[in-house]
Amino acid sequence: MKILVTGGAGYIGTHTCIELIQANDEIVIVDNLSNAKYEAVKRIEQITETKIPFYQMDVCNYNGMEQIFKEEKFDGIIHFAGLKSVPESVKIPLQYYANNINSTLVLLELAKKYHVKNFVFSSSATVYGNPQTLPITEDSPLSATNPYGRTKLFIESILQDFYTCNPTFNIAILRYFNPIGAHPSGLIGEDPNGIPNNLVPYVTQVAIKKLPYLKVNGNDYPTKDGTGIRDYIHVCDLARGHVLALNKLKTNCGLVIYNLGTGTGYSVLEIIHAFSKVVGFDIPYQIVARRPGDIATCYADPTKAYQEIGFKAKYNLNDMARDAWNWQKKNPKGYE
Ligand code: NAD
Ligand code: WQD
Repeated sequence: MKILVTGGAGYIGTHTCIELIQANDEIVIVDNLSNAKYEAVKRIEQITETKIPFYQMDVCNYNGMEQIFKEEKFDGIIHFAGLKSVPESVKIPLQYYANNINSTLVLLELAKKYHVKNFVFSSSATVYGNPQTLPITEDSPLSATNPYGRTKLFIESILQDFYTCNPTFNIAILRYFNPIGAHPSGLIGEDPNGIPNNLVPYVTQVAIKKLPYLKVNGNDYPTKDGTGIRDYIHVCDLARGHVLALNKLKTNCGLVIYNLGTGTGYSVLEIIHAFSKVVGFDIPYQIVARRPGDIATCYADPTKAYQEIGFKAKYNLNDMARDAWNWQKKNPKGYE
């Protein structure tokens, strides 16, 4: 299939492009490089030995996107493009609503006009809010606690409404848990701007001594060691989940929703321990106050994705820590 990958220069997009090319799909990347560097696309080309058509374009630009649809004739779309920082979304909510929602509306309009009937959307475990029961199944109650999460919830509803009146479309909503790690080559990985918000890039920047120590946000949660528990999934496993979801769409399945997680939760202290082992010294940390809006525990029930698309994570925590560290060590300044 020929796949439009929006946001394909970003963290999850780059890893997914590699999996798609290895599965013999043809890809075209559209990214406005608002949170990525063109170097990331060159690295995908290096790993796959494949020339990748790339358009630097804002997906919200209907006319610009229409030219690309006319030229390229896609069979499917994977829509990664979006703004993703929770704290930033609280500060600039309108930009989050405008970017994340308008980009999706533009793609759906054009998908309809040009009969591109396979659509995969990057949703998030954030749509489960503060889960009341664990593990989290796809039919757990949905809620959002910040503008970023609300964009994901709105877009899921938009996709449901769109599907109701366009039932010949096939749509996969993928709810990612916490992607970490990097491609084993060490050529692509997560390259956050400024001081990282997320745990693992913070830990690896402490490990290369760019940051002095990790602040552990709270050790008084009702968890095994008091620190927050999350379902961390290797980004290459997550990427493979997209290939499996596209295969499912080829069977004319209609609208489907899958959790992409491992089903196992690790605490912040367990993450620190795993990274200390792979880097060979103790990662320095201090316990500080809870981060506002954080939940205690979140992990997936991955059964539905296993039963319906054969998805099962292959990488363990040690692999995730090793590959995240390999990327950080080889690229201390990211793609710069
Ligand atoms: P990322 O920021 O690395 O990638 C997103 C890419 O989209 C970037 O390259 C950015 O330049 C591009 N982009 C943003 N707005 C655009 C626009 N209007 N037009 C064109 N390009 C645009 O983020 P990621 O971690 O790779 O996340 C990909 C998707 O997965 C996002 O939708 C995100 O919300 C979702 N998601 C991420 C996580 C996570 O923890 N990383 C978890 C759950 C869901
Ligand atoms: C993990 C754990 C923190 C940083 C976020 C988004 C979510 C999704 C994934 C997109 C928590 C603790 C963190 C630090 C710490 N993104 N922590 N010190 O919050 O589960 O999810 O990214 O959809 O929407 O909210 O991930 O990596 O920020 O935090 O102690 O410096 O690490 O409290 O327990 P989170 P995270």
